[in-house]
Amino acid sequence: METGGPVPSEWKEFISEVLIGSTDLSKRINEVALSITEHYKDLNPILIVVLKGAVMFASDLSRALPFRHELEFIRAKSYEGTQTTGTVKIIGLEHVTLTERHVIVIEDIVDTGLTLRRVCKCLEGAGAASVKCCSLLVKETAQRHEGIPIVDYVAFRVPDKFVIGYGLDYDQAFRHIPFVGVYRQ
Ligand code: IMP
Repeated sequence: METGGPVPSEWKEFISEVLIGSTDLSKRINEVALSITEHYKDLNPILIVVLKGAVMFASDLSRALPFRHELEFIRAKSYEGTQTTGTVKIIGLEHVTLTERHVIVIEDIVDTGLTLRRVCKCLEGAGAASVKCCSLLVKETAQRHEGIPIVDYVAFRVPDKFVIGYGLDYDQAFRHIPFVGVYRQ
């Protein structure tokens, strides 16, 4: 599946454009894995995966990291349909010990950045040795807020459109699509 190629007929009703094809996804994820490896290969980091959207990305990224690391999963929810509700709920961090650990937050997409800000706030004070952020997608959006953490590892920058596939959903559907496409609204 190539970026910019035709939308497969079974998804034409829901997707107007193939934004990132599966070939480019795996190629770029291997590059990101290489950068992460350079910095973390001797640090036994914890990857905090933000469910559900980052599940496909984290699964491929983690398997491309040829060094010891751990995976933990948290939930964060801010969207209803294609609209952010403005409040972000975080569940799951209460059972994770972060003292003296190097942490990489794995996100699917940073839009307003409010989810990432909330996640990093929750990690603050938990005693982590360091916290960095890695996101599959970062939206070029005007909705940036104050105090949004830097995304240290970005696989792709995308236009301010609602996208689905490769973990990203519209009302919980379409996460399993193996490429990133623009949702047909
Ligand atoms: P933020 O808090 O506005 O940065 O939004 C982050 C979360 O909103 C992501 O982790 C996604 O779950 C969801 N989200 C934002 N934009 C999109 C999109 O285009 N498609 C699907 N989910 C999105």
